[in-house]
Order: sequence, then C-alpha cells, then structure tokens
Amino acid sequence: MRKIVINNQKGGSGKTTTAVNISAGLADKGKKVLLVDLDPGASTSIWLLGGERPEVEKDLFDLNSGAELISELALKTTVKNLDIIPFSPIRHRNTKSLKESPNKSQLLKKKFQNLPGNSWDYVIFDCAPGLNLSTVNALAASEELIIPVVAQALTLYGVIGLLETVESIQLKLNPDLHIAGILPCRVDPAIRHNMEIVELLIERFGILVYNTYIREDIKLAECPSFFQTIFQYDPKSYGATDYRAVVGEILSKDNK
Ligand SMILES: Nc1ncnc2c1ncn2[C@@H]1O[C@H](COP(=O)(O)OP(=O)(O)O)[C@@H](O)[C@H]1O
Ligand SMILES: [Mg+2]
Repeated sequence: MRKIVINNQKGGSGKTTTAVNISAGLADKGKKVLLVDLDPGASTSIWLLGGERPEVEKDLFDLNSGAELISELALKTTVKNLDIIPFSPIRHRNTKSLKESPNKSQLLKKKFQNLPGNSWDYVIFDCAPGLNLSTVNALAASEELIIPVVAQALTLYGVIGLLETVESIQLKLNPDLHIAGILPCRVDPAIRHNMEIVELLIERFGILVYNTYIREDIKLAECPSFFQTIFQYDPKSYGATDYRAVVGEILSKDNK
C-alpha cells in the first residue's frame, strides 16, 4: 500500500484538483484507491459525493478507535475502485482532546499502519492550506509527498519552505517520508513566464520535478461543478491527458 500526501502550504496551488484526478487516474488503471479529505473546506468530498454531505457519527481523528475505523468511514464514489473518507463536520469535537494527546501527530500513522495491506493499493491525503495538525498527521503517515505548484513568481520560495518542513517531519516523526515529485500546475505553455518558472524549478530541484506538467485547462476548473473527475467529464481534454501522464509516472514507481 502506497501512502501519498498532496501538500503545499499555499492555497489554490492545485492540491484538490491533483488529489481527485490522480486518485481517479490510478483507479482507472485498476488500482484500489482511498482518498482522504483533510480539508475543512471539504471540496474533495463535495466533488466526489455529488454535493451530498453524508451524516457521519464518527471521525478519523477519534482517539479511541483504531484501524477498523478507516474501513468504517470509507464511502464508495461514482468512480470504480475509488473510495473516499469525506471531511467530517464533527472533527472539531476531537480537535481539542487531540491537541492534548501526547501522540497527537502520530494518530493517523498508527491507524494506517494497522490497516490490512490488501485494503487499498493507494491512500491519498488531500490537505488544507497551511500546516495544521491534520496536515502534520498526514505527513507523518505517508511515505510520499506530491507538491503541486502554480508556475508563478515566488513559487520557488514556497517549495523551499515546504522542504524545510519535510526535513523536520523526517527527523521528528517519519524518517520514511520523501518527495515523490513537484508537479507544476496551471501551466500555459504559450506564456513565457510560466515556462521560465518550470525551468527554474527543474534547475533548482532537478529530478524531483515530474516530467509532466499540468496545463491550464478550463475543463479542469469546470468538472467539479458536474461532480465529475476530468476522466468522466472530458477524457480527451488537456487536463485528462496530463493527469494520465502523471499517473503513469506514479505507477512506474510501483515496484521500486
Ligand atoms: N490545470 C488547471 N487549469 C485550470 N484551472 C485549474 C487547474 N488546476 C486547478 N485549477 C483551478 O484552480 C483553483 C484552485 O485549485 P485547487 O485544486 O482547488 O487548489 P487547492 O486545493 O490547492 O486550494 C480551482 O478553481 C481549480 O479548479
Ligand atoms: Mg484544496
């Protein structure tokens, strides 16, 4: 089971678009995928559950339950092989006791470690912007980090800041965490500034940058309104083509 966290502390960097479409792309390739929505904005949950907000009695961060809770909370989506744990509106109830718990940063790690290995092939965490306790938990629970970035000035500094955070997580909480890749998003190849930023990222971070970048595509912005992934909404679009290519890069590391 590969556990991948999608994170960038900046909002609007393409995290949710990437989390949903990568998860759907992997599911499309026959992988069993669990997408976990950790953002109180709940865009991922709304997108994949057709706008429904399911009544949930329990929350992933419940201190008194273990791995069994994960399967209990996972819901089917309209995409075959893709399940989701939606953001739970009752999470805030747990937050206070969680903050006081000595293992507050390791709660997700523990739960997912005890999950039977054949439950899902991939677990993908979509995070809120900023570095809150649930993001720290996701970084502690995962082995891989995908960093979506917009190809704009100052992006580089954001990535450098995030890499410092990763280093401290590696030291304190999770030596297994590594950068799976930096993914430039919303790239318009016709805009020179965009391409310069992509080149700058490659110059600075080398092979940490995916070979694929995600082009600016209005279809990617539209598909959530129809509660569809890009592969359901327009499988021939630039967005579908590019996300399929990143999924190929992710899959190529399956046996490494
Ligand atoms: N490649 C893209 N082309 C066009 N719009 C995009 C693309 N990627 C993301 N967007 C749009 O940009 C906005 C921010 O993306 P989102 O994935 O929600 O970012 P985050 O989760 O990091 O806040 C959304 O409106 C989304 O539809
Ligand atoms: Mg988001």
